[in-house]
Amino acid sequence: MTLRLSPIRVLRTSIPRTRGLATTADLSNESKGPTGVVLLNMGGPSTIPEVYDFLYRLFADGDLIPLGRYQEKLARFIAWRRTPKIEHHYEEIGGGSPIRKWSEYQATEMCKRLDKLSPETAPHKGYVAFRYAKPLTADTLAQMQQDGIKRAIAFTQYPQYSCSTTGSSLNELWKVTKRLDPDSEIKWSVIDRWPTHSGLVKTFAQLITDKLKEYDESVRDRVILLFSAHSLPMSVVNRGDPYPAEVAATVYSVMSELKFTNPYRLVWQSQVGPSAWLGAQTSDTIKSLVKKGQTNIILVPIAFTSDHIETLHELDLEIIKETKVEGIKRAESLNGHPMFLDALADAVHNHLTGAAVASNQYAMQCPMCTKEVCTDSRNFFLTQ
Ligand code: FES
Repeated sequence: MTLRLSPIRVLRTSIPRTRGLATTADLSNESKGPTGVVLLNMGGPSTIPEVYDFLYRLFADGDLIPLGRYQEKLARFIAWRRTPKIEHHYEEIGGGSPIRKWSEYQATEMCKRLDKLSPETAPHKGYVAFRYAKPLTADTLAQMQQDGIKRAIAFTQYPQYSCSTTGSSLNELWKVTKRLDPDSEIKWSVIDRWPTHSGLVKTFAQLITDKLKEYDESVRDRVILLFSAHSLPMSVVNRGDPYPAEVAATVYSVMSELKFTNPYRLVWQSQVGPSAWLGAQTSDTIKSLVKKGQTNIILVPIAFTSDHIETLHELDLEIIKETKVEGIKRAESLNGHPMFLDALADAVHNHLTGAAVASNQYAMQCPMCTKEVCTDSRNFFLTQ
């Protein structure tokens, strides 16, 4: 017998059925702005003294790195052990992460564009909420309350959904909202993924094309495009996390935009600890390709929207500089590229004119998920 369940039915029956699911269209009838648009991301320490707190929050997050019942104690220990080395890495990239600078710039520029695209929901006010660094989600929510925001969009800056990243940020936003806004005065909707958004795809393709121009025409179409995304522990992948499939969707869309002019692979970076992670690893792949004589390679950070330690240190210094092979380069990150700023505004505009508070995929939990917080946060966001 085939059992057919709509994604919403996967949620617990505690959803208040009388209210039904609000749509963004409903919301736009209720409110004419201001509209808060909150860019969600992991964040990074802007200065060296912020490194320990950043690492502690990161390792304390069981949604990102599940460490079991001693998570909190282990997080303190691991953060303490790793702080000197990571401080040094941040010193080597100029004394801190540029992710806050880029995120604030992106938020401001996106809102300027949105005010023109969608005057009926203007003014749009951009915010940044980081999971592990300042401005933390609680600080941003408090600021939004002070600014009198009643309607907001949580917009993930991880284009491909993972429960470790966007899921963790939304779980945190739900927990903070329960504490600071218990009467739900701010009505939320969510852009929980946008892996194949046309503006995003076109910007990646443009940045790759720009980099390809640095190679001699005689070798250009044989340059290997190595798309690199942050890896995941296999325990998370085997739970049914959608991230690997969504990253692959972005890669395929970008290659499609480029008309498959070059050979390419998707590889995974930033593994930590001894447990099994999704591979092949970026650094191993580069070594192996170079050994085989394939020395014209462009690394493309495909799952990050801004530069941070994973691009500026791991890819640029640990891999490219260490390898000392002239033909190995990196495509620029999206950062403040005008096409990307347009894409951000377009994604929000589409959301505002669409009919859903979140994607259908968001309503469905990972098949092996047993975490109550994942159910509760979905119940909250999907029944606004
Ligand atoms: Fe994926 Fe809970 S871990 S929904």
